[in-house]
Amino acid sequence: MKPLYLLMFAALGAAMPAVAGEEAPAPQIVNVDDREGFSLDGVWRSIVDPYENGYYDYRRKPLSDKASYFADEDFDKDRTKLFEYNFNTDRTLLVPGDWNTQRPQLYYYEGTVWYRTLFNYRPRPDRRTFLYFGAANYETIVGLNGHKIGRHVGGYTPFNFEITDRVAEGENSLVVKVDNKRRADGVPTLNSDWWNYGGLTRSVRIVETPLTFIRDYFVQLKKGDNRTIAGWVQLDGEQAEQEVVVEIPELKIARRIRTDARGYASFEVKASPTYWSPENPRLYDVRIVAETDTVHDRIGFRTIETRGTKILLNGREIFCRGVAIHEEMPYATSGRAFSEEQDRILLGWAKEMGCNFVRLAHYPHNEAMVRAAEEMGLLVWSEIPVYWTIQWENPETYANAEAQLTDMIARDKNRANVVIWSVANETPHGEARLEFLRKLITRARTLDPTRLVSAAMEKTALEPGLLTVKDDLADLVDLISFNQYVGWYDGTSEKCDRVNWTFDIEKPVFISEFGGGAVYGRHGARTERFTEEYMEDLYERSVAMLERMPGLAGVTPWVLKDFRSPRRQMVGIQDDFNRKGLISDQGGRKKAFFVMQRWYEKLRKEYENR
Ligand code: GCU
Repeated sequence: MKPLYLLMFAALGAAMPAVAGEEAPAPQIVNVDDREGFSLDGVWRSIVDPYENGYYDYRRKPLSDKASYFADEDFDKDRTKLFEYNFNTDRTLLVPGDWNTQRPQLYYYEGTVWYRTLFNYRPRPDRRTFLYFGAANYETIVGLNGHKIGRHVGGYTPFNFEITDRVAEGENSLVVKVDNKRRADGVPTLNSDWWNYGGLTRSVRIVETPLTFIRDYFVQLKKGDNRTIAGWVQLDGEQAEQEVVVEIPELKIARRIRTDARGYASFEVKASPTYWSPENPRLYDVRIVAETDTVHDRIGFRTIETRGTKILLNGREIFCRGVAIHEEMPYATSGRAFSEEQDRILLGWAKEMGCNFVRLAHYPHNEAMVRAAEEMGLLVWSEIPVYWTIQWENPETYANAEAQLTDMIARDKNRANVVIWSVANETPHGEARLEFLRKLITRARTLDPTRLVSAAMEKTALEPGLLTVKDDLADLVDLISFNQYVGWYDGTSEKCDRVNWTFDIEKPVFISEFGGGAVYGRHGARTERFTEEYMEDLYERSVAMLERMPGLAGVTPWVLKDFRSPRRQMVGIQDDFNRKGLISDQGGRKKAFFVMQRWYEKLRKEYENR
């Protein structure tokens, strides 16, 4: 029998609220590394629960908190009671990290794993307390001291819950239910070409703030005016109206503003910064000083725009010498990457190849990846996993996609190196899909008018040997960005020699994927698939074809490193890895890597004086 309040909502035809205690997260707190608090990373207890026995009763009805695993009962405290779970004696998992590569039994596991950690806390009357997750894949329900406090859906964006009134003096029990089952109505949906790494895949921390704090801010060059820094500040708390100073000492800026009754204030200030660029990734110390809180960040300033078929960074034409990257750690287990050290290895490989750009595919990567790329002088294409055949007509699916887009932009909007927000990858044409993506694109431009918006589209053959992109989506995005696999999925390498391209839209052309596979160290004829020689030949011919492509302004070959995918099952060749990496999962540079390195050095010289 449903609780009365749920029946009332049903009668009113209103959308059913989430199950009590599973409310949505609080608005995202940005720049958490600069906040007070402490990490909860480390060894957590875990319970693998494929039937969600800790959440549903035998009639598949949600259990009360007391009867669920959120209660974190201790059998050894009272053995007269019947419990059939015990975190204290169950196995452990490291947080952060996917569960698939921590335990052989969890390699293919798709379902629920419960995590539990205990932490001591001392509440302070002048502080608010939040629980912050860098990300968890895919659906997360959080419980504190025996009670559910919230639910989040989406595997690659941060979320936080306020626990000021729930965290206890002394020991606290934090229980988190993570379910990585793929869903037809999910984002991504059932089918994707990457491993469905589940779990608390990024750091978990306690964030402490003043009673009224600076929750969010935006500080970038004003669109279309490279002599003005513009932005806004958003406070959170009861003392909403405050004097705030935005300080950039090296530019002798101390701009005073006053937040309104909503805690919001915008500003503009004349400035002549040294612009951020891959060659000079200049960052400035920015301090936002309110009466009750101060936040410090390192922010770069640059302009990004298109003009005809050119991409202009700081008013100068650039070629995006890129590579696509999955967020998967190099070497070791090849599990989900989560640390700055792992990120810097991947980004260092991109720099070694001669890149000034990375496509962080196919979902928002961890924040350290974006910040490290900014310091290393790598432009970023950042995207949400609206990938392949999404449920375009499902409003909940759209709300999920829009929430992921909103959270991606919220987290990284102050990163100068992020120049492109991408809303889709290889999505099938259709009216519902176009409307779905049109709304996402509008949302992206509303949240952040300063950056380009793209999507990875697909090619169309006008006639044999003449290819283009025919997609209504091309009218809505700033780049003609698309994936093409001539010579791999479309013919063999020699086909590149006899293919030409034409585009009827005056926008920069950006190849968001191309390439083919090889096993590092496997050698043979240039016509033999999966040899390094085939891949090298394909890349040489692809480069020659790309050099004939009108309006080409950037490429991100697929992909930097071999990565795990359940779709790549050929024993002895793939062994669950997509082998299109220019570098193997263990760091071996394939011959094709050097084809790209040579081409990028040529391009770097060609563009350095433009
Ligand atoms: C597609 C897709 C990638 C995939 C790649 C491949 O273009 O966007 O996610 O891994 O092709 O088939 O290797």
